[in-house]
Amino acid sequence: MKTVLQTNFNGIDGLSIEDTAKPTLTDNGVLVKMAVMPVSPTDWKLESDAHATNEDLATLPRVIGIQGAGTVIAVGKNRDQALLNRRVLVVNPAGVYQEVVLSENPDWLYPLAANVSNADAAALSAGTSWTLKQAIDHSHADNIVITGANSVIGLTLLQMLADEHRPIYPIVTEASKTYFASQMPHLTAYTNADLPTLTGTTIVLDIVGKLDLLTDLAARLNQPEIVSIVLMQAPTLANFKFVHDEFNADHYRYFLQTLADGKLTAIINKIFPIDQTKEAQHFAKETHSRGRVLVGFTA
Ligand SMILES: NC(=O)c1ccc[n+]([C@@H]2O[C@H](COP(=O)([O-])OP(=O)(O)OC[C@H]3O[C@@H](n4cnc5c(N)ncnc54)[C@H](OP(=O)(O)O)[C@@H]3O)[C@@H](O)[C@H]2O)c1
Repeated sequence: MKTVLQTNFNGIDGLSIEDTAKPTLTDNGVLVKMAVMPVSPTDWKLESDAHATNEDLATLPRVIGIQGAGTVIAVGKNRDQALLNRRVLVVNPAGVYQEVVLSENPDWLYPLAANVSNADAAALSAGTSWTLKQAIDHSHADNIVITGANSVIGLTLLQMLADEHRPIYPIVTEASKTYFASQMPHLTAYTNADLPTLTGTTIVLDIVGKLDLLTDLAARLNQPEIVSIVLMQAPTLANFKFVHDEFNADHYRYFLQTLADGKLTAIINKIFPIDQTKEAQHFAKETHSRGRVLVGFTA
């Protein structure tokens, strides 16, 4: 079966697509025939640097990807037999970019409602957005500034902030202003240069991870709290902290329910076929963010 493997730290072009043996069903496992998986910046960071993230995914070779959607094709005798033929979102730290995945942890398998497509489920990026929302909810700051607001995580966060009463100042690049307006017509986006002077205290949620951008913002805002999901440290900035998404099965169930209820919308750019995994990663890395890029076995 086709499997996308990382065998080195040479970056995207170091990936290989290999023919590997199909996993064997175990009593505690289910086999999932994969349909579609997301591409994210974490992928190409891990492919070039063993210490790129807090995640312990540096042992090679490894099958890339952590989550994806597909259909259960076999169920072990200790698992719920009703799972057979169900479409599911599967989380598997051992990798998901392979035709068939063995999933042995019931907490990492989520049956999908009929109105949630495989692509919508695979594109789900809500955990990190939720982590940022927690930081906002715990902050007493008067203003909310979000860098990289047009990113998948930024737009998902903004959906979660629909009831927020404090003013929100999305920051995007000039090239992404029109796209942002199409996604969030009720909010005005600013570039870093045209952000107005803010009064009161501010929390900055950083989704970009550029120290010069944050340094510039910190100089213009009144000692903002800065919460980054990208920069792991910034010793020159006061009130800075890095936050990391902790996997939580109940959160996944909740986010999938909000997708089914129409309270959360998946943000999808385009789907590449599995043979073009490298092209998909290059496209996601080298173009402005216009939704999650996906890779599919059936595209
Ligand atoms: N801490 C955690 O738990 C965690 C978990 C998941 C992901 N992450 C990180 O979160 C970040 C965002 O992920 P995502 O999937 O939402 O990515 P994404 O959709 O690709 O968005 C990336 C954003 O960064 C902006 N950007 C990139 N280079 C820039 C530059 N030089 N100047 C200004 N803006 C720039 C992009 O703006 P344009 O679109 O205008 O180019 C876009 O808004 C990634 O770095 C990822 O590794 C962290």
